[in-house]
Formats: sequence, C-alpha cells, structure tokens
Amino acid sequence: MEKLIINGGAKLHGEVDISGAKNAAVAILPAAIMVGEGTSIIENIPDIDDVHCLERIIEAIGGKIEKNGTTYSVDCTAELKVIADTEDVRKMRASYYLVGALLGRYKSAKVELPGGCAIGVRPMDQHIKGFEALGAKVTMDHGSISVNAEKLIGANIFFDVVSVGATINVMLAATLAEGQTVLENVAREPHVVDVANFLNTMGADIKGAGTDVIRINGVEKLHGCTYSVIPDQIEAGTYMIATAACGGRVTIKNIIPKHMESISAKLEEMGVLVEELDDSLIITSDPEKLIACNIKTSPYPGFPTDVQQPMSVLMSIAKGRSIINESIWESRFKHMDELKKMGASVLVEGRTAIIEGVSKLSGANVRATDLRAGAAMVIAGLIADGKTEISDIEHIYRGYPDIEKKFKALGADIYVENN
Ligand code: EPZ
Repeated sequence: MEKLIINGGAKLHGEVDISGAKNAAVAILPAAIMVGEGTSIIENIPDIDDVHCLERIIEAIGGKIEKNGTTYSVDCTAELKVIADTEDVRKMRASYYLVGALLGRYKSAKVELPGGCAIGVRPMDQHIKGFEALGAKVTMDHGSISVNAEKLIGANIFFDVVSVGATINVMLAATLAEGQTVLENVAREPHVVDVANFLNTMGADIKGAGTDVIRINGVEKLHGCTYSVIPDQIEAGTYMIATAACGGRVTIKNIIPKHMESISAKLEEMGVLVEELDDSLIITSDPEKLIACNIKTSPYPGFPTDVQQPMSVLMSIAKGRSIINESIWESRFKHMDELKKMGASVLVEGRTAIIEGVSKLSGANVRATDLRAGAAMVIAGLIADGKTEISDIEHIYRGYPDIEKKFKALGADIYVENN
C-alpha cells in the first residue's frame, strides 16, 4: 500500500507549473465523443487517475485515443456503444457526462450511476429535468440511468439549483438538439466556459457561457478540432495556500489570475502577499503573521468548495477564530477529524466549522478521506513538526498530477513509500 511521507517544516521557494483543469478535462473528453467524423486534438490534459479512468471508459464504448504527452487525439468515427457499464464508469463522478454526450449524438444512452468523492448526497434531478425538457424519456433502474428520445427539441430550462454537472450535461445534449435551448440559473465556473468553447470550436453554436444564461442553437453535427484545456483553478489554489501556510515565495505559473480572485482576496485578508502577473501569481508569506478570516463556499465567482479543505489547514495556524460555512456539500468536513489528530482546534456543527488558530501542528498518521481532503493533509504535513504519513492516497492521484514531485521541487521533504 502506498503512503505519502512528509517531514514538515520546510519553507517553499521557486516556481510551480499548473496543469490542465481536471473538471474541464473530464467533461471535454466525453464531449469529444459527440464528433461522428474527424479527430479532436485536445492539449493540456492533466495526467491524473480520473482522466485515465475516462480514457478506458471511452475506449470500452468504441472510441480511439492516442496520447502524446499531455495531448490527446480522440477519434470516435466508429459507431459507439450507447451502454456504459464497466467498473470504471461506477468509479468516477464525471462518467455522468456520457449521458448528455451519447443522448446528443445517438438520442439514447444507458450509463451506470456514477461514484466520485463521498462529500454529500449527489443527486441528478437537475440533469434529468433538463434531459426531459429536451424530449427524452429518463428511467433509473438497478443503479443505472437510461435516456431515450426520438428526437431532441430545444427548450427553456430554469435550473432549481446552480449545478456544474447539470449545466454541462444538458448543454452537451442541447448542442445536437433541433432549435434553440435557453438554460437559466446555470453554473458560471471556468470549466463550464471551457467546455462551451470546446464545443463551439467543434462547430456548436453556444452563447453566454460564463453568465447565468446560456443560449444554444442546435446544430446537426460537430467536427474535429484542436483545443487546449484551461489551467486548473483548484490545483493553483492548493499551491497558493500551501505556500501561504509553509511560508516562502513561490510563483504559481501557467494560470489565469482572474479565476483565482476569490482565493487571492482571502489570502490577502489573512496577511499573505499576492502579486499578479499576466499568467502567474507570486505568493509571499510569513506564517507567523497569518490572521484568521471567514469563508462561505459558493458557486463561481464565489469561494470554491473544492478549495475549502486546503484553506481550513491555513486557518488552523492563523491567529484568531476562523469560520467556514460550507454551502455546497453537506459532508465536506471529514478531513477535520484527521486535522485534529495533528493538533488543530476545530469544532464542526452541521455545515459550519469553527477553527481556533494554534501555533503549530504536529506530524501524525492520517488518511486522505477524499480528493481535496488529501490535498489538505499534504499541506498539514508540510507545516507540521516531525513526520506525517498519509494513507489512502489514491484519492489524491485522482486529481493532482505529480504532487510529490511538484512539492519536492519547491523544497519540501515529501516522498511516496510502498509497503
Ligand atoms: C462539480 O461536481 C465538481 N466535479 C466538484 O468537484 C465540485 O465540488 C462541484 O462541481 C461544485 O463546484 C466535477 O466537475 C467532476 P454540482 P458536480 O452539480 O457537478 C446540488 C472536486 O473536488 N445538485 O455543481 O457533481 C448538489 O447536491 C469535485 O474536484 C442538485 O441538487 O456538482 C450540490 O449541493 C468534488 N441536483 C450542488 O447542487 C442536481 O441534479 C452543486 O453540485 C445536481 C446537483
């Protein structure tokens, strides 16, 4: 079993290159299966297990993928199977994008219900509402979702909650529907915009992504294209917070600073210096000077829920009382028990966590209870006195490429141990 071992205490210095966005890539790869003729060349795909899982799923339904470093060529000219039922499909959340993509192309799909991080109830009612509005019949049985339509007709859909997954999934299907679809109260995350841009580069007609109304004029077919995935906002946020917590000076490279604003603003509030360049940010921090702050997670452009867990580690050593209100996922505080083993002072009540800053954490044996919890434990290990051993690190590899290499290059004492 692999563990991450960290000897804490090093300040971080240097530069870190941020990879392509996980949550964009895991939607763009399924979107590429909607092309019936031609090859999609997708650059800047992150080297993470969720992407590898998706590759196997696409190949299992008949798609061909060739890789050259971080560039993928996806060829789905062959007729694809509309049933996705392998173990991999059940393993990852983003397999639900196959439903929208296959429904768009074939008007039919049957997909095993997706897994992913155990961070709360993960309903699909808004996806279903959208598919039904486009004219599909949706049934859920024995752990799978089936969608079928004679044809898809554009519709006006007002989502009851702001959902990244439902916005993208319904956008995929509506791209190949007849007529106009108007999606209201949609998610505005950078990865939603990236998927819309990718679809448009393939011949779709989508306007408004990045605002709360998206208008889609259905087209008959899509063609191959060359496209580059945006940088990962959450990976970048994780390295920003790690630098703030460890102290030192790190340039976070190949990012879109605009996407980082909610995180930069909170770090500045806590006493961290954030300098903005064209496609990078320089973080300079003295952990002795960190002061408490409050966050409430919310959809973009608010503070991202996916950065809440790493942020809680920074708060654990900031002077004073910090309060986190987690408004997206009801079970995203599981890492707090692990953090407490390292000496953090945390009280969790429902969706609120109250953190009293302590002067130091101490190394312990902890678990990565989910993906971002794993990233939080890495940061905790980096700042703790002594040795930290993190188990269940497969969660971390679902979303962070080369995490130990990247931190090692910044001066951290971190390595993987097999036993
Ligand atoms: C995406 O999940 C991300 N995953 C998550 O990142 C992220 O936490 C989340 O968006 C919010 O930003 C991927 O992109 C693969 P939602 P998703 O639909 O799409 C409720 C990570 O760490 N809801 O935006 O599944 C839901 O319960 C992962 O990288 C409904 O009520 O999230 C939640 O409270 C973890 N009905 C809220 O909406 C629905 O039909 C937002 O969920 C759908 C969602």
